[in-house]
Amino acid sequence: MKKLENKTVFITGGLSGIGKACAMAAAKEGANIAVADLKSNEVDSVMQEIRKINSSAIYIECDVSIYAQAKIAIAKVVSTFKSLDIALNNAGIGGEANKVGDMSEEAWNKVIHINLNGVFNCMKHELMQMSKQGSGVIVNMSSILGKVGFASSAHYVAAKHGVIGLTQTAAIEYATEGIRVNAISPGFIDTPLLAKGGITENTEIKQHIINMHPMKRLGTSEEIANGFVFLASNESSFMTGTCIEIDGGYLAV
Ligand SMILES: NC(=O)c1ccc[n+]([C@@H]2O[C@H](COP(=O)([O-])OP(=O)(O)OC[C@H]3O[C@@H](n4cnc5c(N)ncnc54)[C@H](O)[C@@H]3O)[C@@H](O)[C@H]2O)c1
Repeated sequence: MKKLENKTVFITGGLSGIGKACAMAAAKEGANIAVADLKSNEVDSVMQEIRKINSSAIYIECDVSIYAQAKIAIAKVVSTFKSLDIALNNAGIGGEANKVGDMSEEAWNKVIHINLNGVFNCMKHELMQMSKQGSGVIVNMSSILGKVGFASSAHYVAAKHGVIGLTQTAAIEYATEGIRVNAISPGFIDTPLLAKGGITENTEIKQHIINMHPMKRLGTSEEIANGFVFLASNESSFMTGTCIEIDGGYLAV
């Protein structure tokens, strides 16, 4: 028996990295997939890969930082699949690297709008739908940087701490309504996000980051997808309000 058979799974930022791996893993477990992401040249090739596993998969163009677009995206999932069983709020960016005193207001706002407001914009509409159904599972993508600080990334760190707070609060509010809300804190994962931040291209910075993980390597998107499938499935039926660390030991130091 597949773990997510016939479930409808909505994944933001599902065209790349962790989100794409989660979409593929959920499709392999029998789920119908709705990927919400920005307009991209990758849409056709990524959707083709997912549809090879489950032909019903749909793509919805959506900027999660825009409230109205998040609302429309979730309405589209429900009109297509008639329910929203599982949501992964994963879309995110790294943002400009600067100390707090040197950070521009624009850089701060951009990361907060996408990484924190984007999660609220989606969660609000997901929860309204799941409340109507009396069931649902939400997984939010936080970070190890949702639990500790990291120099030059105050906007990202603040947003990811906020995502954990949102997760815990919604978990308490909906615990008796059949809705579970959890989060994942990945360590540094080898995805295009790290490449965009110049981390994987600079061998010195990459080695420094690797050394911060006791396992002395970066994680893979598939390792995060394994955690997502667990939190999305009934195997985690007594878990809500948690944030699981999949981080090669980063936070144990
Ligand atoms: N890679 C890591 O080391 C790492 C570690 C911890 C947490 N995370 C988090 O995991 C999530 C996924 O990161 P990733 O590494 O796979 O990055 P990625 O860059 O590979 O993928 C992110 C996806 O989000 C989409 N996206 C960005 N802004 C968007 C918006 N406004 N609306 C809709 N979609 C948008 C992008 O188009 C892209 O497809 C992010 O929230 C990130 O903060 C990543």
